[in-house]
Amino acid sequence: MTSIAIPSGMPQYDDVPRFDVARVRADFPILDREVNGHPLVYLDSANTSHKPRQVLDVLAEHYAMHNANVSRSVHTLGTEATEAYEGARAKIAAFINAPSVDEVVFTKNSTEAINLVAYAFSNASLRPDADPRFRIGPGDEIVISEMEHHSNIVPWQLLAERTGATLRWFPVTDHGRLDESGLDDLVTERTKIVSLVHMSNILGTVNATARITQRVREVGALLLLDCSQSVPHMPMDVVDYDADFIVFTGHKMCGPTGIGVLWGRGELLAAMPPVLGGGSMIETVSMARSTFAAPPARFEAGTPPIAEAVALGAAVDYLTGIGMRAIQWHEKELTAYALDALATVPGLRIFGPNVPVGRGGTISFALGDVHPHDVGQVLDSLGVQVRVGHHCAKPVCTRFGVPAMTRASFYLYTTTEEIDALVAGLEQVRKVFD
Ligand SMILES: Cc1ncc(COP(=O)(O)O)c(C=O)c1O
Repeated sequence: MTSIAIPSGMPQYDDVPRFDVARVRADFPILDREVNGHPLVYLDSANTSHKPRQVLDVLAEHYAMHNANVSRSVHTLGTEATEAYEGARAKIAAFINAPSVDEVVFTKNSTEAINLVAYAFSNASLRPDADPRFRIGPGDEIVISEMEHHSNIVPWQLLAERTGATLRWFPVTDHGRLDESGLDDLVTERTKIVSLVHMSNILGTVNATARITQRVREVGALLLLDCSQSVPHMPMDVVDYDADFIVFTGHKMCGPTGIGVLWGRGELLAAMPPVLGGGSMIETVSMARSTFAAPPARFEAGTPPIAEAVALGAAVDYLTGIGMRAIQWHEKELTAYALDALATVPGLRIFGPNVPVGRGGTISFALGDVHPHDVGQVLDSLGVQVRVGHHCAKPVCTRFGVPAMTRASFYLYTTTEEIDALVAGLEQVRKVFD
C-alpha cells in the first residue's frame, strides 16, 4: 500500500478510510504517459479529471453493444439503452442522497445546468400563472459572490439584463474566504436566488453554507450551490446541505465530457417552466400549443447524452468503490503537504487559504514576477501539467490585482512525489527567469 507522509499539524485519526494510491493509478491508462520526455505529472484535475479504465470500458461497451435511442423505442436495444440511462440516474441520485431519482436532471455540464435555472426564472416571469418563487423583475435581486466561476456569473448577469433584476455579490477577504459580514444586508426580502460556489476552482476555498442557507430560508429566497469542484472530491448529501439546487459536471469526476447534472428539490422542479422545447419533454402537442412532461423529462429535450450518462454512472460506481471520505482525506493530506512544500519556494505567493482547513486540493499561486504563462511553459517542458490564466474566474484575479495565476490541482490519483516534481520544476523556473 502506498501511503504518504502525514505533514506536521495534520491530526492523525485511526479511523480515516484509506486506499492504495498506486492501485488507483494503475486504473488510469493516461498516467503511464510521458510528456516531453518526462513522466506525466498531471496537476490539472480541477480543469478536467482523467478517466479510469472502468469508465472507458463502460463507454465503449455501451456504444458497441447497447446503442439505441432512449425513452421512445420498444425494441430490445431501445429498452436496454433506456434501462442503462435511467440506471445511471438512479446511481447519481444515490451518490448525492437525492430523495427521489426524478430530482436528477441530466444536462451537458454545470454551465448548462446553471443556465437552465436562470432561464427558468425569466421564462416564468413571462407567464402570469407561474410560481411566484420564479417570477423576477425590477426591484428583485440575485446574489452571487466574487469568487464564482464565469459559469455562475454570466447566466445571472444575462438574467438581470432580461428581467431588470439587480445582481449583487459577496466580496472575498484577503485570505480568499467568502466575506459574510454583510450577509443580512445582502440577502434580503428582495432576494430571489442566491447562487454560490461550494468550492472555488481558483482559490480552493470550501464555503461553509449553513449561515447563508439559514438566511436564505428567513427571506424566502432560493439557494443554488455550484458543486462542480466539490462533488468530485467529498461526500455530498443534498438533504444535509439543504440547498434548493446543486449542479456538477461529469468530466471533473472521472466521467466523460458532455454530461452534467442539475439536482433540484422535486416540488421546485415541478413548479419550473421548461427551457428547451422539443422531443421527449412533452405530455402532448397540438399545432396550437403543448403541455409538458413532469421532471426530469421536462428539462431533457431531444436525444440526451446517453452513453455519457451511462459512463457517469460508472464513474460514480468507481468513486463510491474507493469511498468519498477516503478521497477527501487523501486530498486533504496532499493539500497540507503541498502548502508546506510550496512555502519553501522563495518568492512564491499563494492566493487563497494557506492552511489545509476549509479548502480543497486546488492551489493557485504567483512566482515572483514571472508571468504564469512562462511558469506553465517551463513546467510543461518537465512533464508537469498545471493550468495558467484567469481560470474562468477573472473577478478573483482582479480582486488580488493580478492578470493571471498558476494553479496546481489534485485528485485521488495524485501523489506527494508529483508535488515534489512541481516544487523542483518551480526551482527550474526561478533559475531560468532569475
Ligand atoms: C466552480 C466551477 N463551476 C462551473 C464550472 C463549469 O463547468 P463546465 O465547464 O463543465 O460546465 C467549473 C469548471 O471549471 C467550475 O470549476
